[in-house]
Amino acid sequence: MENEVIVVTGGSSGMGKAMVKQFAQAGARVIVCARNEERLAQTKQELETFPEQIQTFALDVRNREDIERMVQDVYEHVGPITGVVNNAAGNFLCPSEDLSENGWHAVIDIVLNGTWHMTQTIGKRWITDQQTGSMVNIVATYAETGGPGVVHSASAKAGVLAMTKTLAVEWGASYGIRVNAIAPGPIENTGGVDKLIQSEKAHKMALKSVPLQRFGKGEEVARLAQYLLSPEGSYINGTCVTIDGGQSIGQSGFLTGAAAFQR
Ligand code: COA
Repeated sequence: MENEVIVVTGGSSGMGKAMVKQFAQAGARVIVCARNEERLAQTKQELETFPEQIQTFALDVRNREDIERMVQDVYEHVGPITGVVNNAAGNFLCPSEDLSENGWHAVIDIVLNGTWHMTQTIGKRWITDQQTGSMVNIVATYAETGGPGVVHSASAKAGVLAMTKTLAVEWGASYGIRVNAIAPGPIENTGGVDKLIQSEKAHKMALKSVPLQRFGKGEEVARLAQYLLSPEGSYINGTCVTIDGGQSIGQSGFLTGAAAFQR
């Protein structure tokens, strides 16, 4: 990934941090975006073996001006952005009938609107500069099936999936920009697992629902993202790659969802 400049949102924790490390190890310069400055500083410190390659940027993907400022800054001080991973997400388990207006908007704003803000801002820049690039959107297996207890997140991620496929055709045909998605199942040490699978019983049931009998690792998702972003994946466009140990086909969506959603 030498000569690549990759933006990773939500890059200071979980899968995002694993991707930052993977891309830096592969030689890329990585722009780590997240809201919390302390966690950003901690991430930079943890990855101190790559001091030249990691830049952090505190921003909220809900705020388009923050994103425009970051993009401007990166082009001025680092170089042209060549790839982006829209990984920032917000989620919590809540029965749909109890979800507040603000709760709905918070998650839709981070996941769907935030992905759109970043995607359109960088896409427009690439088009103006006659530059190509590659984008990867992190969704979830429940973007296709729906997920009990996460109506806000499932709806937002389904929107991101539609955005991915739409832009893969629109921008692929006109500008050679590739847009793909990754749909992870349960990945250990991430908000998804920590927040959504709370009780020991739910944990056991979720584990049982994975044919490979384990949760995934951030590094496994990171290697897939690297493949999709890099020239290795140059003919992959408009695809959503599932990485879930076979969970989504090993069990019905109903059982999988019920395992996670224990009221
Ligand atoms: N159950 C029910 N409602 C909840 C909730 C929960 N566990 N957590 C938050 N909400 C509601 C809040 O009550 C609030 O609604 P209200 O004003 O009607 O009370 C609304 O959601 C917004 O919450 P707030 O904390 O003000 O928003 P925020 O912008 O600071 O945080 C979240 C956004 C809620 C998505 C927060 O969980 C977050 O920042 N998450 C980021 C990390 C993450 O979730 N990772 C998982 C990725 S899978």
